[in-house]
Amino acid sequence: MTKRGGRVGVGVAVAVWIAVPAAAQTGQPAASAKAPVISDTGRLKGPRQPIFFRHDVHAGQDQVPCLYCHSTATASSEPGIPAVQTCFGCHQMIGGSTPSHQAEIKKVREAWVNKQPPRWVRVHALPGFVRFPHMRHIKVLGPESCITCHGDVRAMPQVYQVATLKMGWCVNCHLQRNVSRDCTLCHY
Ligand code: HEC
Ligand code: HEC
Ligand code: HEC
Ligand code: HEC
Ligand code: HEC
Repeated sequence: MTKRGGRVGVGVAVAVWIAVPAAAQTGQPAASAKAPVISDTGRLKGPRQPIFFRHDVHAGQDQVPCLYCHSTATASSEPGIPAVQTCFGCHQMIGGSTPSHQAEIKKVREAWVNKQPPRWVRVHALPGFVRFPHMRHIKVLGPESCITCHGDVRAMPQVYQVATLKMGWCVNCHLQRNVSRDCTLCHY
């Protein structure tokens, strides 16, 4: 998967949401906090997305595991953005409990019916000359390590960049963890 622009995502097969056992979820709090009602989306950090998809609702309050949607994080360079099919697996039935949720979920259903996946705006992007393999990092740092680099996404109504993603940031952690700092490790 490359740069955004209508990227469709790898997609997880439609699974039954109930089948996700709360205790088996990694990096998620035991008790879920109710996501707040947000009336002023203009004040949120991070780029505005075509659908107001809230991580604090899905990954926070409802404790859907990160890997349920970003399923390739442990297997490939890119964690992947879920296909609309993954969304529709739940939203065929879940219509939303408030008018604002219903209005946004309607967009998900339309995206599915019209086969027009949302064009999610990319939040994190390294320059093209840098190599960053997710799976290698997660293998060593663990599946809960998303938070180390991305901040507590479970509490974010709209995802924003927390780490600088500058070379110094990468090299610092490599230094601390005794990982190679060879130029060619990260640069093609
Ligand atoms: C129900 C599906 C779903 C779950 C669960 C989920 N995400 Fe996401 N994630 C998305 C979608 C869709 C996007 C693209 C839209 C956006 O940026 O909000 C995204 C975007 C992101 C981004 C920004 C990607 C970029 O453009 O740079 C990060 C980082 C991220 N998710 C991390 C996480 C983490 C960490 C968790 C678990 C705490 C998680 N996600 C759980 C669906 C999900
Ligand atoms: C595992 C089930 C599940 C999956 C998968 C899922 N959702 Fe949801 N979603 C929910 C639940 C539960 C709610 C809360 C509904 C309510 O009470 O209003 C919700 C709420 C929403 C809302 C309204 C609240 C908000 O986040 O702004 C939107 C929009 C939404 N989902 C979009 C998506 C999109 C887009 C995807 C795919 C990237 C997705 N959902 C995947 C279960 C899911
Ligand atoms: C060691 C730091 C680090 C860890 C750990 C990490 N990420 Fe990332 N993530 C990054 C960087 C750096 C980028 C930007 C990569 C690029 O632009 O090539 C990124 C990009 C992303 C993206 C956007 C990629 C795309 O295809 O649009 C998502 C989604 C994401 N990460 C999710 C996750 C999830 C989920 C986890 C945990 C399972 C995780 N990340 C763990 C550093 C990290
Ligand atoms: C929080 C700590 C941490 C941060 C931040 C981090 N890394 Fe790493 N990185 C690691 C660890 C640990 C390994 C060793 C993985 C292994 O042993 O396979 C690693 C390995 C690598 C590798 C080698 C993977 C391979 O194929 O052997 C590359 C390339 C890499 N990192 C690039 C980056 C880049 C680029 C950044 C910044 C955008 C970055 N890392 C930020 C901890 C980090
Ligand atoms: C652990 C990963 C990592 C290693 C090791 C690494 N770099 Fe980088 N480098 C990055 C990242 C990420 C960027 C892009 C972000 C930035 O500009 O800071 C970058 C950017 C650069 C740039 C462009 C800076 C600019 O201002 O545009 C140069 C030049 C560079 N690196 C040279 C080197 C040299 C020379 C070495 C070896 C001594 C090296 N890098 C080692 C991750 C790394």
